[in-house]
Amino acid sequence: MHNLETPEIFDLTTLQTNPEEIITMQGIKKSFNGQEVLRGVDLTIHRGETLVILGRSGGGKSVLVSMLVGLLTPDEGSIIIENQEVTQFQSEKEWNQVRLKIGFLFQGAALYDSMTVGENVAFPLRQHTKLSEDEIQRLVAEKLKWVELEGIEDKMPSELSGGMQKRVGLARTMALNPKIIIYDEPTTGLDPVTSDTIAELIRNLQQEFQVTSIVVTHDIRTTFYVADRVAMLHEGKILTVGTVDEIQNSPYQEVQQFIHGTRRGKKKG
Ligand SMILES: Nc1ncnc2c1ncn2[C@@H]1O[C@H](COP(=O)(O)OP(=O)(O)O)[C@@H](O)[C@H]1O
Ligand SMILES: [Mg+2]
Repeated sequence: MHNLETPEIFDLTTLQTNPEEIITMQGIKKSFNGQEVLRGVDLTIHRGETLVILGRSGGGKSVLVSMLVGLLTPDEGSIIIENQEVTQFQSEKEWNQVRLKIGFLFQGAALYDSMTVGENVAFPLRQHTKLSEDEIQRLVAEKLKWVELEGIEDKMPSELSGGMQKRVGLARTMALNPKIIIYDEPTTGLDPVTSDTIAELIRNLQQEFQVTSIVVTHDIRTTFYVADRVAMLHEGKILTVGTVDEIQNSPYQEVQQFIHGTRRGKKKG
């Protein structure tokens, strides 16, 4: 039950925003041990788009997206997800409602080693639903088909290649049909061919199911393959946001350096 003594909380947390804007972040700041990682991030994510957050390693990309599922809280700033000001949340229960809408494919995306592929994909369904065993098996098969791994339910994660493990992780992320999917470094550590397969899958899933996708990466190749728009995180702020074309032709030196290889752009040794 909601706390009847504080009904005003619901007025505070339910906001009318542009329906095109599924997530709006404003003035996000975050420091760790006196070190400012995010210095005022402003970013809007549109419903149905694939937005890539591009930036160098250690720049705060994972920190930023962790805030969208309540794993970290900003020191300052506002985050509105589908009209709800999530920084005002008072309980885990409120967060859990949001988490059901957002699938998060974590960097590394470790599967449970001791569980079969089928059990891995079934895990969120068993945690969050009361579906029958038959229904769970049907959904597991469906999700594995989405990631082009039909019929591998009984395999163990250790029997799979890195790319296949990523795809099983994605099937698990999609188990509850999230309307937003966050991919944290989905192609890092994979060879170029496997990376392209994952990037293609991200693109296909977005087109087929109209999910809103947020892809965090430092990989230019993946960025240009999947992005509708690219937001460049640089020195704790969003330096610029644009289409792939706009980013490729960006007047910002920092963007050009990033695109054409950090090594060539590196000036301070
Ligand atoms: N929970 C944490 N505690 C302390 N420092 C952290 C924590 N999470 C991230 N950081 C620091 O924040 C910075 C940004 O990290 P991260 O968001 O992981 O970068 P990216 O994902 O862009 O590679 C790093 O310096 C990292 O050490
Ligand atoms: Mg990261």
